[in-house]
Amino acid sequence: GDYNGPLRPRVHYSPPKGFMNDPNGLFKDVNGTWHLYYQYNPTDVVAGNQHWGHATSPDLYTWTNQPIALFPPNSTSGVFSGSIVVDPENTSGFFPNSTNGVVAIYTLNTPEKQVQEIAYSFDDGYTFTPYSGNPVLDVGSNQFRDPKVVRYGDSWVMVIAFASEYVIGIYTSPDLKEWTHASNVSHIGFLGVQYECPNLVEIPIRNSSTGTDKGWVLTISINPGAPLGGSITQYFPGEFNGTHFVPHDGATRLSNFGKDDYAGQFFYNESVSIGWASNWEYRNLVPTATEGWRSSMTLPRENYLIDSGVRGWELVQEIYDIQPILSDQLASSDNLVNTTSQVDFGNSTSVYFDMNITYPADVTFSTYASINFTFSTQSSNEQFKGGYILTGSTPNTIWVDRGNTNGFDYPLFTNKFSASQVKPAERIQGIIDHSLFEVYVDNGSVVGTVDVYPTEPFTSLSIGTGDLPEGSTVSLQVWGLKDTWA
Ligand code: FRU
Repeated sequence: GDYNGPLRPRVHYSPPKGFMNDPNGLFKDVNGTWHLYYQYNPTDVVAGNQHWGHATSPDLYTWTNQPIALFPPNSTSGVFSGSIVVDPENTSGFFPNSTNGVVAIYTLNTPEKQVQEIAYSFDDGYTFTPYSGNPVLDVGSNQFRDPKVVRYGDSWVMVIAFASEYVIGIYTSPDLKEWTHASNVSHIGFLGVQYECPNLVEIPIRNSSTGTDKGWVLTISINPGAPLGGSITQYFPGEFNGTHFVPHDGATRLSNFGKDDYAGQFFYNESVSIGWASNWEYRNLVPTATEGWRSSMTLPRENYLIDSGVRGWELVQEIYDIQPILSDQLASSDNLVNTTSQVDFGNSTSVYFDMNITYPADVTFSTYASINFTFSTQSSNEQFKGGYILTGSTPNTIWVDRGNTNGFDYPLFTNKFSASQVKPAERIQGIIDHSLFEVYVDNGSVVGTVDVYPTEPFTSLSIGTGDLPEGSTVSLQVWGLKDTWA
């Protein structure tokens, strides 16, 4: 692949060429290498002809493309989304002589129906053999897909979408081959038109009020029919006993306030996740096709749950350790109160900023108190804007606006996004990576992912604060990011 195009992200994964959607089969092998598979059309820049593409990484940012891992058996079928597990105890019987056996569990989509198949690997996930007894789960439905499997006690547990029935099925198995239906979770949260790509995982709880240090979360992606249109992912913290999942409450919670974060998946046995940074409303239309590719992944995230009391349960999605890809420090200030910093970063660099803010106790904010950041191009007068509103009718609100860019003009390519918090932000981390911007507020309590298509690269960042009350402090660090494909 050629990763030099002006719209190519340099630290977010994108495929060598062709079309990518959902992350699949995420796992870390016994050598510590991270594996990312993905829904892949190698022959066109639109969805269809689905394979499992494959890439590996030591740090979740620096990727090496690998040969395609799973191929459809014929031209009318597709290998749809699914997951991977490691089977050190050889429960599957595929691995009598090894403790690093890898099994992929995925949907085979045919014109008639969607069935679940498995394939096994003796070489840590580089090559696979389909199981001769496939399919392993066939309920005769053409809307039954996206198995995600975890280990619970002595059992394998699968969550899978009965997409158009708003049902997540829970199945159990001793060996990944025989699956027994255990229960359903149905009609929860936003329904949209379909449920897709569920995940049910146990992740850490921080600030636990009950003393437990791990909790379960069910994620369900919906498409179309997201509140902002198209596709988005929602989540439900809750209890799981090996066969039944019960959400803690009836609240609906989205995992992103942007429009470009879908079908996220957790790595097997890890609290790390990655999402697909696009939206089914316009994924086949975005202008990166001129560079021969479409769609990128979100940043990797380290996830945990908090029980915030008043606000109930929340999923926090921190940026995964970004240290390995920091390059030149472009700015550093401990004193950005009511002043703006101008950072020129040239036209080939992706940029990360990290702003930390404190406020005096019991403060009232003036009408204009705000934080602002704007990325600009050299000569085309395009801008990507964002900021944080501290006061007024929508206080404690992060916002971004991709409307002042000219590379993609489409009615459903919504310009403005925002999300409000209960109290003022104390940390804002942002990344511009050519055609993708992400913001993480308060260490990932609120996350926004938005594609952005300027006609020429952004080359400068203007970032600052205004009308903050006396006694506030603001520090800022800005870093260029390594070109992980160079
Ligand atoms: C979600 C999805 C899945 C399906 C895959 C097909 O984006 O529609 O439900 O398995 O994409 O590529």
